Amino acid sequence: MTIQPNSVTPLKAEQMQECNHQFLYDVAYGLSSSPKRLQSKYFYDKKGDRLFQQIMALPEYYLTRCETEIFEHKTAQIAEAIKVDNSAFDLVELGAGDATKSLFLLKYLSEQKEKFSYMPIDISGNILEILNDKLHANLPELEVVCLEGEYFEMLNKVAKLSSRRKVVLFLGSNIGNMEFNEAEVFCAELRKKLNKGDVVLVGFDLKKHPQTILDAYNDASKTTALFNLNLLERINNELDANFNLQQFEHYQNYDPLTGACKSYLISLADQKVSLADTEIKFDKNETIYMEISQKFSVSDIENLAINSGFMPIDTIMDDKKWFADAFWLAT
Ligand code: AVI
Repeated sequence: MTIQPNSVTPLKAEQMQECNHQFLYDVAYGLSSSPKRLQSKYFYDKKGDRLFQQIMALPEYYLTRCETEIFEHKTAQIAEAIKVDNSAFDLVELGAGDATKSLFLLKYLSEQKEKFSYMPIDISGNILEILNDKLHANLPELEVVCLEGEYFEMLNKVAKLSSRRKVVLFLGSNIGNMEFNEAEVFCAELRKKLNKGDVVLVGFDLKKHPQTILDAYNDASKTTALFNLNLLERINNELDANFNLQQFEHYQNYDPLTGACKSYLISLADQKVSLADTEIKFDKNETIYMEISQKFSVSDIENLAINSGFMPIDTIMDDKKWFADAFWLAT
């Protein structure tokens, strides 16, 4: 087992400050825009991580269970799709987290004696340390290189580290948290970082009965509401703001025509909130657009692949056909 020695070190004080500046800039910019908006990538502080874990276990939130079913029960099919020409490869995972799903694949590939290394990329050094220990305990022979940082920066590093064929995993419908055109730009950029013959595996949540989708984000326990409101709490704590959380309410909406599932926070009163040295005014019923969780049809997925320079080679779904892992070849 190998690990980049300095790839999981905590951020230095200046880097922390830089992050906070960016956070403040993005929040101030988003809340002075019309309509107001915040970026869902900021949901994930410690409490946000915990709430997301709870969301993944909710009875209404089917996404994680569906993709886990694919990785647990269709592992041989996944392995077949990524092997292509049987050459050795680096399995790179974007936003690996605790790699619960990919562990099924890693175990299978190891049992099959495939020649591969695993390179998880994550923005959180803390998660990577936990993952590294977990992999060491479960698969002591596996060659692991943990990479802490932004996806594309780390993909540049990956290209320098090894010339083996790349198989890139981007699971969990994380692609759905980008607007449609952003997803296309992201995939085209990903294609640029790869070589002909490389494979990507992207997890997509499929369009289905609108009520099933709406319920997944409008859960009875209101955990998704807390997850959204937690970003206001984070802004209060880290950017010295004074949002009154009682004065905002979570509102979820799903449009079956476009597949866009969007969350908002609604201001329940005319109110003023201070943020750093500015004051932000909210009208009663004004919205803050918080997150998109885009849902896809099979043809949406194929178009996205082709428009960004990939050739679709296979799609594996769970038994209910609610979730799809799509395999694309860089051509
Ligand atoms: C991380 N992402 C794929 C989740 C989703 O389904 O869009 C985030 C989430 N937001 C509310 N519930 C879950």
